[in-house]
Amino acid sequence: MAVKYQEEDHIFTLQTEHTTYQMKVDEFGFLLHLYYGGKAEGCMDYLLTCSDRGFSGNPFDVGADRTYSMDVLPQEYPCLGTGDYRNCAVNIRNADGSECCDLRYASHEVRKGKYSLKGLPAVFAGEEEADTLEICLEDRVSGVQVRLLYGVLEKEDIITRSAVIRNGGSGTVVVEKASSACLDFVTGEYDILSFYGRHAMERNFQRTRAAHGTFRIGSRRGTSSHQYNPAVMLAERETSEDAGSCYGMIFVYSGNFLCEAEQDQFGQTRLLMGLQEELFHYPLKAGESLVVPETILGYTENGFGALSRMFHRCIRNHICRGKYAHGPRPVLLNSWEASYFDFDGESICRLAEDAAALGIDMVVMDDGWFGKRDDDNSGLGDWTVNEAKLGLTLGEMIGRINGLGVKFGIWIEPEMVSEDSELYREHPDWALQIPGRKPVRGRNQLVLDFSREDVREYIFKRICGVLDQGNIEYVKWDMNRSITDVYSVEKDQGKILYDYVLGVYDFLEKLTERYPWMLVEGCSGGGGRFDAGMLYYTPQIWCSDNTDAADRLRIQYGTSFFYPACTVGSHVSAVPNHQTGRKCSLHTRGVVAMAGTFGYELDPGKLTEEEKAEVRAQVARYKKYADLIRTGDYYRLSEPFRDVCAAWAFVSEDRSRVLLNVVMQEVRGNMPTCYVKLKGLDPDVLYRDTESGRKYYGSALMRAGLPIPAGMGEYRAYQAELAVCSNGQ
Ligand code: GLA
Repeated sequence: MAVKYQEEDHIFTLQTEHTTYQMKVDEFGFLLHLYYGGKAEGCMDYLLTCSDRGFSGNPFDVGADRTYSMDVLPQEYPCLGTGDYRNCAVNIRNADGSECCDLRYASHEVRKGKYSLKGLPAVFAGEEEADTLEICLEDRVSGVQVRLLYGVLEKEDIITRSAVIRNGGSGTVVVEKASSACLDFVTGEYDILSFYGRHAMERNFQRTRAAHGTFRIGSRRGTSSHQYNPAVMLAERETSEDAGSCYGMIFVYSGNFLCEAEQDQFGQTRLLMGLQEELFHYPLKAGESLVVPETILGYTENGFGALSRMFHRCIRNHICRGKYAHGPRPVLLNSWEASYFDFDGESICRLAEDAAALGIDMVVMDDGWFGKRDDDNSGLGDWTVNEAKLGLTLGEMIGRINGLGVKFGIWIEPEMVSEDSELYREHPDWALQIPGRKPVRGRNQLVLDFSREDVREYIFKRICGVLDQGNIEYVKWDMNRSITDVYSVEKDQGKILYDYVLGVYDFLEKLTERYPWMLVEGCSGGGGRFDAGMLYYTPQIWCSDNTDAADRLRIQYGTSFFYPACTVGSHVSAVPNHQTGRKCSLHTRGVVAMAGTFGYELDPGKLTEEEKAEVRAQVARYKKYADLIRTGDYYRLSEPFRDVCAAWAFVSEDRSRVLLNVVMQEVRGNMPTCYVKLKGLDPDVLYRDTESGRKYYGSALMRAGLPIPAGMGEYRAYQAELAVCSNGQ
């Protein structure tokens, strides 16, 4: 068992292969945090120190002892109102209007297997792969109970945390703030790595000090957002990509979140991850519960790269589900940048003919095939095929495409409605709007109230009505605006955004149950909802609306800190690039798109014969490496926000195959040679460049590096496969 309870000291210890997490119920029933980090043995309650601290209050039951204060002690689930003035994990407004919750230990339970969460995505694992610890805390005055859930995946070095808040009293209480994870560090100086961005430029890398005060990121947009990704790392000041201590938190949720890192008056650090407290006031009547979405925790002493690989394995094996979680993904040709709204059935079939000739597996018909939708101002909500526009039925079109040996996929945006649509004319009250106010428009569309089951059911039926018309093997689920006008006649306003996200999950669960063979790709204006919650239903997510290979180097670098390459939707598009006007070579665009699910977002009819030949070879090359990219370990070999080149490699688990990728980000006259040091190889074996035939020892490649062949042109890419020589060959 990875969970131990020492009754005499009331100590809980969670052990993974390389980490230890420890906490203690003290004599007053408070659940104190003792330690999280590299493997350590024995009771560590000696780490707790108590001194008389001015202006830090003392719980009533400690009597005259002024040295005991919740304002100073490390805790597992700190609440507002107990004399802890730091950021709290939970805040409850009681029936009498007071804001206070004094949680004390009530009971605990240890179980084999990993807990699951009702209505929410969560890490899953087999009975033998994980253990669960559940600690029940209780406020004896209000009757509020909190079940803290800990999942321990010993082999993966992963610990998960969640909480279920239940009103065990008689009046209604309101949950004003709820987190799933809190980490208190009594010592240490830390940096926080976070990933900020904007539409078409997501997940930029930022490293800042966790200093006195609070570093806070989050979303109040209704989705996890382009602006801040719901995942962070906390690292010691000297930690680097390849060495040093670092912790990571990934929030398994696709809506509003809040992450806070605070250094308190004594230099202690608290890291919290949970639901955003704004636009959230969750009432619980007697007997009702709220499930706080899960946070995945990881720790390593071996730098950011090792922590990323740990998270990649966890997401690949314990978050992504369904047929495609472990299977090869189709190389797809998407119609969006090929023709935007300007297409018909013939032109989509032509894309399929080109796809067949180029070795591409699937054609995806993007936005514009339904209702009245020739631009982005109308039609959303009217999920009926526009046969007049297509010139044939969907079934006929799919039949022709499949006849060419090409699979077919389609775009949907179920959560939205255009004011200019049949649906809105019939049900204006289904859109989120505040009575008496004009709604805020985004992309000229409104958001359907997906917290309502009747709304979801209607849309589900309409969409299934389309998906049943032919052999549809892929769906791109889009969501193209941030949410405003949070109001519902049906329920308490403070519940809507949480219930909305659960509504989206409910819809996705039903969709994937009904069409288990279908690959669903997530999307929200590119990567505006790129999170582990969505990955539970959609094993890949369109990473960004920016398809420029040069910008993608940074976007994909940031994304790689938590999410594996097999989840990163990435395509080759036309030049000049539609977002930046930049012209990168077809080779470079291919190398960059190969760090993801790979596909095309252009009209092959506009390519020269020479380019077509290159695409054909590119697709074949990708297919050769697809397994290695999907299952291999990912190594960042440079820092594209700082270095001249962007470099990364995929290394097979047995270290016998390596795919090295380098893109020069700068060209200067008479440039110095760029050397790239590989990582993760077997130092003692000989690797052979499968194209040039040159041989190198792993140790040389890792310690001395490889000179990248000189050449002209900005954003020039270099890709090489290295394979272990067998019998000296
Ligand atoms: C979003 C997506 C694009 C495309 C358009 C269609 O912006 O990210 O890939 O599907 O919507 O409207």
